[in-house]
Order: sequence, then structure tokens, then C-alpha cells
Amino acid sequence: MPRWVPLLGGVLGSTTCGLLLYAFSVFIKPLRAEFGWSATEVGLAYAICVLVFGLMTMPAGRLSDRFGPRPVVVIGGAIVGIGFFLVSTLQGPQDLIKLYLYYGLIAGFGGGLVYLPPIATAPKWWPDRRALATGLTVVGLGLGSFIMGPLATSMINSPSIGAGSALPVFKYVGVAMFFMAIIAGLCLSNPPAGYKPAGWNPPAPKAGAPKAGRDYTYNETIKTVQFWMLYLAYFCGSFAGLMVIGVIAAHGINEMNKEAAALAGVAVSALPKDVTSSIAMQAALATSCLNAANAIVRVLIGAIADKAGVRICFLVTFTLQVAAMAVLFPVGKTLFLLCIVAIIIGWNYGAMFTLFPSACLQYFGPTAQGSNYGLLFTSWGIAGFVSNLLAGRMFDMFGTYAMSFTIGAVFVAVGVVVLALTKAPRRLEA
Ligand code: 2OP
Repeated sequence: MPRWVPLLGGVLGSTTCGLLLYAFSVFIKPLRAEFGWSATEVGLAYAICVLVFGLMTMPAGRLSDRFGPRPVVVIGGAIVGIGFFLVSTLQGPQDLIKLYLYYGLIAGFGGGLVYLPPIATAPKWWPDRRALATGLTVVGLGLGSFIMGPLATSMINSPSIGAGSALPVFKYVGVAMFFMAIIAGLCLSNPPAGYKPAGWNPPAPKAGAPKAGRDYTYNETIKTVQFWMLYLAYFCGSFAGLMVIGVIAAHGINEMNKEAAALAGVAVSALPKDVTSSIAMQAALATSCLNAANAIVRVLIGAIADKAGVRICFLVTFTLQVAAMAVLFPVGKTLFLLCIVAIIIGWNYGAMFTLFPSACLQYFGPTAQGSNYGLLFTSWGIAGFVSNLLAGRMFDMFGTYAMSFTIGAVFVAVGVVVLALTKAPRRLEA
């Protein structure tokens, strides 16, 4: 099969996951309006989905190493589509538990099965452009959310589709996700053993470089300190990024409302409706900026990392992220600055999903990449679950997101130190 086919599978599969995950904030208001649930109750569905998605990547990777990526993604694709679709059958406030079951558990379960195998498969077909190939298998996470935000909003507001309800979005998009992910699975298979693209030979080792050895097995990988250092850094970066993705629009609205009220000399509650709705639309722009950067970086950083190396990319993006997190609170009241910082945060966050699998591949080799990266990625699910619950709580306690962002900045700073100390493990004797 031509080697662009698994890349196509990666783009389609990751776009399905993007539709599932990063635009959830769009559904919160309409679901609350329709069923009377609190923001925390609806938000818990998202936190469950992130946790289950993140944890499922571990068995997904192991199954993909064992049975190949195709059956795992095809089955996961059917499950994620069905789970998302089922949300459209909710009928009343008593169905909150069904929201957790359909969106959180079932769709999250299928999503994790779809997400991981292409990341472990596509680079095997592209040993000459591994990081770039990895980037293409995750680009859809940014792309899907970039599409889903405006798409879902217009479907919800359309008098002939949603008429204010989010349920039809789950119906139509669920069907689309079902087919997209199944086609993605059909595009995937492992290359024959020892595969090399025509006309390409592995570069000759540099003088003095360690001798080529064999790949790490999964059991050997998880005994290395390097693996757990990557795990900690991934957790720190994901914690901060996911926290911001969930609240950046709300933060902008909060601070811009306060600024407008101060300028007008009135209380925030006295601001006219047209002013608050225009501020809400402006703040949504910050989310779109973040999503666009989160998509573009995944491919660009892959091309850069193939040339400059993963390590330098890690150190630059994590350091930049500390700075961006530190200024995120004060820039909230100025739309232009907020959008610039949103782009930087989206860029650094999205870079992780190309850089961590590339580092894992480089450190431990392709043989057990599905299992290794599947376990590494669980750090994202746990970080997302904790950060989502915490951001809301801290807002309730302090009335602003200042404390959440400061904690996020400290976590990423820990990530910088850990990554600076992490070096590739020694090669194993063949
Ligand atoms: C990603 O954005 C799912 O967070 C993961 O690739």
C-alpha cells in the first residue's frame, strides 16, 4: 500500500478525536439551558471523557502492537461514533447519568482506541520523516476542534436543525465520526518487517556515536528512569494546557467585562446586554486562535524536530509556555494580547503531541512504541481530569483564574527542569 495511506488514516482518526474532545465547551450552555444542569455537572462529563480516553490509550497501544492497528481503530471508531450519537437521545434532567455514560465512558473509550494506533503506525512507514509523520497523525485534534466549535454553534443556532438544542449536533456529527474513524482504521496496517522506503537508507552512524542496538521491550522501557521523567513532564505540560483550553474564553469574558464596567463606572451586572454579548464573541476568538495554533504546530514542529532534534524543541516550547502562563492572567482584559498569548499557548501545547511520541520512539525504538506511548499518554488523561476539576473549584474560591494559571505555570516550570535533565537511554546490546 502507498505510504501516504496510513498518514491519511492518522489525519482522519485524529480529526474524529478532535470533534469529540476540544469543542465540548460549546455544548455546556445549551445543555444547561435544555436540562437545567449546573456547569459542574455538565463539566464532569468532559472530565470523565478525558480520563477514560487517556487511560484507554494504554490497552489500545498494547492491542495495536499485538493485533495490528486496523481492528483496534475500526472497533474504537464504531464505539466512539455510537457513544457520541447516543447523547442525542437524552430526554430530560434525569438523564445526566446517561450523558456521563454515552459521552464520558462510551465515546471516551472508543476515542482512546482510535487515537493511539495511528501514532504508533505511521512513523514506521516514514523512518525518513518520523516526527513529521507523527505530527500528521495528531494534527486532526487541533483541526477537528477548530471545525467543531463554529460548526456546532451554527447547528445549535440554526432554526431548522438545533433551534437552541445541542442534541442534533450529537446525532449528525456522531454518524460522521462513525464513518470517518472506520475509514481511518481501514487505512492502517503495519509495514512488512524491515521496511525501508525506496531509495532511502538509514543514515550512517556518526563517528563516536553509540553502536546501534536493539529496541527496548515494553517491560524494559517501563524500568527506565527516562520513561518516567517523560511521564512527569507530559503530565505537567498537559495539566497547564488543558486547564487553559477549558477556561480561556471564560477568563477573557470575566476580565473584559470587569474592564468595561470600570471604564463605564458601573457594576459588571449593570453592563448592557449588547456589550456583554459582544465581549463573549470577542473572547471566543481567543479560543479559535488557540485551536488554530494547536493544529498547525503539530505538523510544523514535526518538520522542525526532524532537523533540529526533539530535545531542543522540548526545551524551547516548555520555556515559552512558562512565560505565556505567567502573563495569561493580566492580558485577559485586552483582546489583542489575549489572542497572542492564546496562540503561544496553543502552539506549545500542541507541540507536545508530536514531540512526546517522537521522543518515546527515539529513546525506546519502534518495536513496542504502541505499548510504550500508550502508557506514556495516560499522563494526559490523568492531568486533564484533575485540572478540569481544579480550575472550576479555584474559580469558585478566588473569583478569578489567577491562581489556576499560576499553578499551571509552576507545573510547566517543573516540566522544563525535568526535560533538561532527561537524556536518551543507552542502546541495548543486540
Ligand atoms: C491531543 O491533543 C488527545 O490531547 C491529545 O493530541
